[in-house]
Amino acid sequence: MEAIVRNTAEEAASLTAAVIAKALQSNPHLVLGLATGRTMEAVYTILVRMHEEGGLDFSQATTFNLDEYVGIPADHPGSYRHYMNEHLFRHVNIDPRRTHLPNGMARDIETECRQYEERIRNCGGIDLQLLGIGRSGHIGFNEPLSALRSRTREKALTQRTIEQNAALFGGPDQMPRWAITMGVGTILECRRCILLVTGREKADIVAKAVEGPITSMISATALQLHPNCTVVLDHDAALHLQQRDYYDWVFENEPHWAEFRRP
Ligand code: GLP
Repeated sequence: MEAIVRNTAEEAASLTAAVIAKALQSNPHLVLGLATGRTMEAVYTILVRMHEEGGLDFSQATTFNLDEYVGIPADHPGSYRHYMNEHLFRHVNIDPRRTHLPNGMARDIETECRQYEERIRNCGGIDLQLLGIGRSGHIGFNEPLSALRSRTREKALTQRTIEQNAALFGGPDQMPRWAITMGVGTILECRRCILLVTGREKADIVAKAVEGPITSMISATALQLHPNCTVVLDHDAALHLQQRDYYDWVFENEPHWAEFRRP
């Protein structure tokens, strides 16, 4: 794992977008794993700008989102399909048939989950997976006690997650209680992961995720098992990291980061 700290949330999002753009330029057929949440909005804004101003080409790319709420139609403003359409898909030249999210309205959720895994496999697996972290330390919706080898499945949301994500549903009472999420095992199979974390309110949980012991209580700690995972933080999110000087030194001296060093 590598940890990279940038001064501001905007610089952290820019670095993340630059990594995605470079991956897409070197492989136009990229299979890109996507995440939702407020943190990611800045990344999508930059990618849209790169498409509009620099011609960043999504036409051959395929995407798979981490998760979707159960029982929420795609056109509901709280659905992740709606989020992705609004923040990215409708602004770039991606083929909508190559954008995948679990179908939370499927009649048979178990079959839907199995088929989602099959779709990922049939596309050759995910090349680069973008991730955020919830306050409970989840990646996707892998809430506490998610098996570290879990696959795409239905998961009950914690009260904390319900409160954190309730705004788009008009309050916790209207929030769905269940979601379909890629499993921790599914995420660990992606060829590369990039976890973006910004803001002081995530400083404690991200320090546990990066430097703490691996535990299914905090599914993000499983990323320590991933052979190619980069955590990008802003100054505020990095406040509780113990080895910040070391991470900074690596970033400044590692040749593969040379082209990304200046914001
Ligand atoms: C949801 C998503 C996660 C995301 C998290 C963080 O719970 N399922 O994938 O990482 O939100 O959201 P935010 O960026 O709004 O803090």
